[in-house]
Amino acid sequence: ENDILSKLPLKGKKILITAGPTYEAIDPVRFIGNHSSGKMGFAIANAAANLGAEVILISGPSHQQIQHSLVKRINVISADEMYKECHTYFKEVDIAILSAAVADYKPKNIADQKIKKKDSTLRMELTPTKDILASLGEIKEHQLLIGFALETNNEIENAKNKIKRKNLDAIVLNSLQDKGAGFATNTNKITIIDKNLNEKPFELKSKVEVAKDIMNEIVTKLV
Ligand code: CTP
Ligand code: CA
Repeated sequence: ENDILSKLPLKGKKILITAGPTYEAIDPVRFIGNHSSGKMGFAIANAAANLGAEVILISGPSHQQIQHSLVKRINVISADEMYKECHTYFKEVDIAILSAAVADYKPKNIADQKIKKKDSTLRMELTPTKDILASLGEIKEHQLLIGFALETNNEIENAKNKIKRKNLDAIVLNSLQDKGAGFATNTNKITIIDKNLNEKPFELKSKVEVAKDIMNEIVTKLV
């Protein structure tokens, strides 16, 4: 019986996970988006549920599918919607892992009719979205808060700054420098940095394996 329990170390815990991109509407038929597939976040949701956690998966537009009795999927489109759902559930969870590729900017005004083509340059004004992760860092109490960092240069330093700036317990640095890592691929090369700024690098591996590494680190070091 002890064996079964040790295989479900997150039984009784609730985890909020964000995944995928966000789409920011320009007009009724257009949006600003990015190439995030949602694969990483969905793999984390699956790995967490396999450890016994009850998962609330808040996902932007993604073709990923998940079938697990412990995972509740909530679909959102925009950064504003993702923000709202995260704040609805954050109070009741033990751990939050924010892996979504949230748009940093959205159109300042959404045109209510399709924007017509003209001969001259089209300029669009953008305004910052709310930083969901930082906003959760501000209200955090008992929760373990884990962010992601996508960097192309000064990556360790930038990731460490994000830990401080957003009041995180750890950050998963996603290295885009390595071939085979990033949005469109099935693999990632990560370094996990905790709030004491200890760095733990991992090999390039499949996102499913990366998700297991992340959950293993949470179970053994953080919870
Ligand atoms: N994030 C978020 N809400 C946003 C933007 C980012 O919750 N509006 C979260 C991401 O889900 C990720 C972390 O913040 O967990 C870092 O995202 P990243 O894009 O690497 O950092 P930014 O703070 O947006 O800074 P920059 O893009 O300039 O590097
Ligand atoms: Ca960003």
